[in-house]
Amino acid sequence: MKKTIRDIAVANKVVFVRVDFNVPIKEGIIKDDNRIVQALPTIRYLVNAKAKVVLLSHLGKVDHKNPENTENDKKKNNMAPVAIALKKLLGEKINVAFTPVAVGSEVNSAVSLLKGGDVLLLQNTRFEKGEEKNDLTLAKAWADLADAFVMDAFGSAHRAHASTYGIPSLLKERGKDTALGFLVEKEVLALSKCVSNVERPYVAILGGAKVSDKIKVIEVLLDKVDVLIIGGGMSYTFAKAQGFKIGTSLLDEAQIDFAKNCLEKGKGKLLLPIDRIIANDFSNPSQVREDSAADIPDDFMGLDIGPKTRTLFANALKGAKTVFWNGPMGVFEDSRYDKGTIAICEAIANLKGAFTVIGGGDSAAATAQFGFYDKFSHVSTGGGASLEMIENEGHLPGIDVIEEKNA
Ligand code: 3PG
Repeated sequence: MKKTIRDIAVANKVVFVRVDFNVPIKEGIIKDDNRIVQALPTIRYLVNAKAKVVLLSHLGKVDHKNPENTENDKKKNNMAPVAIALKKLLGEKINVAFTPVAVGSEVNSAVSLLKGGDVLLLQNTRFEKGEEKNDLTLAKAWADLADAFVMDAFGSAHRAHASTYGIPSLLKERGKDTALGFLVEKEVLALSKCVSNVERPYVAILGGAKVSDKIKVIEVLLDKVDVLIIGGGMSYTFAKAQGFKIGTSLLDEAQIDFAKNCLEKGKGKLLLPIDRIIANDFSNPSQVREDSAADIPDDFMGLDIGPKTRTLFANALKGAKTVFWNGPMGVFEDSRYDKGTIAICEAIANLKGAFTVIGGGDSAAATAQFGFYDKFSHVSTGGGASLEMIENEGHLPGIDVIEEKNA
């Protein structure tokens, strides 16, 4: 068992907390603040315990290879709007400061000015070239300021970067405390139930666009689950592997052989769509219709599962005791193609006594959009992280690096 923030002394200590504030921002406006909200219990706990709280997070991607992109990415992924949102969420009584840089003298002096119960948010960690390379000099610059480290960025726990892995590694070497925050503790507890000692029947549902992103998880889940449902864009690669025509639907050509192997290995437990909603254009179609023929017409693409598939999948979910879902069934952002994803939400919401977990930004956004967020046992803040947690049988570098309770 890993140490949690309850196990470490934090009063008047500089506690570096890695959060995942990688929220969608458009023109300076935060479109979904869920990840900030989910980090508040840890931040509030540390503030109440009079820690000097220093928050670090990445935001979006920063291309350091091409200098033109670097500047644009930095403009786009500035953490300043997050600082404003955080201040609002924490309320007036808590001091929240922000440094427009992630490292250096400005950060050092801001940290030295902190009093117990204050909060400081640093600029996007990916503004630093060394972040994604887990650069030792960068990790050291942060670790030198910290008395303790708390990992509360579940969404980034699959990344062994300077802010997720480098800092806790150094602090551990120096005999300083490292611990998990409340969000990561909650996520680990929930996802572990989809990894080992799973209550059966266990049904997993995978959707989304690309087979290649999900190869390992498909392999692992085929061994673990009673039923594996595959819908969404990736299902067309499986249809192609079965020998059907898929028109202009999404195809992950390089994965056709992999899909063939899965069809063989998954006989009896792999469930694929039997009909679909097709359209003759993605964004501006003149024809949208249900289609249950084996082959999709040449100039049409599948954009959602069809009504027969909705029933097939809902029936497969009946009686499930554990459900893991990642990836929507169709282009749910468009109301012409949202019924498949809604049907899965409904089928899961209707389960009695089941443990249900949804992971992934898109699927989590869909549950919120359609009013089912509270119907799941757990909505993970991590997309890649929740998949890798299942792939790696419960292990992620950003969590493994944290000290054991009885170490
Ligand atoms: C996510 O959005 O899944 C996490 O914040 C990780 O982001 P990344 O894939 O850019 O590392």
